Amino acid sequence: MSEILEQERHEQGYARSEADVLRVIERAVLDSDYHANGYTTRAQADRLGDLLELAPGHLLLDVGSGCGWPGLYLAARTGCSVVTVDPVMAGVRTAHRRIGDDTMSERAWAVAGTADQVPLRQGSVDAIVHTDVMC
Ligand SMILES: C[S@@+](CC[C@H](N)C(=O)[O-])C[C@H]1O[C@@H](n2cnc3c(N)ncnc32)[C@H](O)[C@@H]1O
Repeated sequence: MSEILEQERHEQGYARSEADVLRVIERAVLDSDYHANGYTTRAQADRLGDLLELAPGHLLLDVGSGCGWPGLYLAARTGCSVVTVDPVMAGVRTAHRRIGDDTMSERAWAVAGTADQVPLRQGSVDAIVHTDVMC
């Protein structure tokens, strides 16, 4: 029951994240424009990308990615491929739109799913990130 309420809360939050004022705040606080829904700053996302040594040809999995932060950003920055996974459809749709806007559809995929049921073959990814998912 509480899991369903949590999902609805994120669903409404991702719909609201279209509001201009929230984008302004997100840019100012996180230096992100991916409709982020946590506390991870661009500097921290950059650090993750550096630590994971992401590069073209690598496949990154971002679990609980909401609207695609930071997975889509890391793919854009490093040239790696990415699969973003989140159970909330509003977030998946926004991530999908961003992939199109950034012309990354050949190496980025936004899919609906959960951490315990990631729709990928075991051993097929090179790196995994999750930001503010275990909160
Ligand atoms: C606080 S948001 C963070 C989203 C994004 N990573 C960010 O930093 O903007 C947490 C996300 O985790 C997702 N989530 C919750 N339970 C999950 C699960 N079991 N598997 C994958 N994602 C989950 C939620 O739908 C939500 O989008």
